[in-house]
Amino acid sequence: MKIAPSVLSLDYSRTKEQLEELNASKAEWMHFDVMDGHFVPNLTFGPDILKGFCRGSDLFKDVHLMVDDPDFISSIFIPAGAQMITFHYEALSDGVYGEEEHTSENTVEKIKALAEKIRKSGCQAGLSIKPKTSVSLLKPFLNDFDLFLIMSVEPGFGGQSFMMGSVDKIAELRKMLKESDSNALIEVDGGINLTTAKLCLDAGVDVLVAGSFVFKNGIAESCEALWKLQ
Ligand code: DX5
Ligand code: ZN
Repeated sequence: MKIAPSVLSLDYSRTKEQLEELNASKAEWMHFDVMDGHFVPNLTFGPDILKGFCRGSDLFKDVHLMVDDPDFISSIFIPAGAQMITFHYEALSDGVYGEEEHTSENTVEKIKALAEKIRKSGCQAGLSIKPKTSVSLLKPFLNDFDLFLIMSVEPGFGGQSFMMGSVDKIAELRKMLKESDSNALIEVDGGINLTTAKLCLDAGVDVLVAGSFVFKNGIAESCEALWKLQ
């Protein structure tokens, strides 16, 4: 299991100190939330901030793009040091069709093409779905990505409550990945604390993103407590 503290909740008046604490903690990943003010009603970091984090930490840089144009934005974050780029299904989808929800061929092609482009630049690729998007829509992509991110809150802000429906989505995705012989990781993001983390781990999650829980309860202690759940 990997812990990925979300630096959205870091105290920026104590950046150096907090980075050192992260480096010494049980966390192996650092989750970096990029928001463009369009895909979500919030605005965060540009690539120079990621470059600064790369100089201050060797943790794996997990970049979550909550943006309308993941093609362009990924092309500026990969050279800045991103090691995983996760973009949103909804950013590229032109809608969901039919009684048995499915994705248009055009959208499937666009999503697969971007995954391939990211991977060709030497970065890993992830695909994320918002809480209201069905996990079954990930079916065409199971063997094209290194990671699938289940959002357990509406993307945009830290500190929201975990949506319980996410646990079943993780379990369903775990089954789908097994059936298709995919080694992709499952990541969960939003409202993670010791209780919700345990539910997600039991359902088969691999990577826990945690923002407020980690930065409000002491970085070392909270990462240690999450670590002990496995
Ligand atoms: C929300 C972000 C999350 C956020 C999680 O849109 O994707 O990564 O930082 O924060 P918590 O853990 O506070 O819910
Ligand atoms: Zn995130």
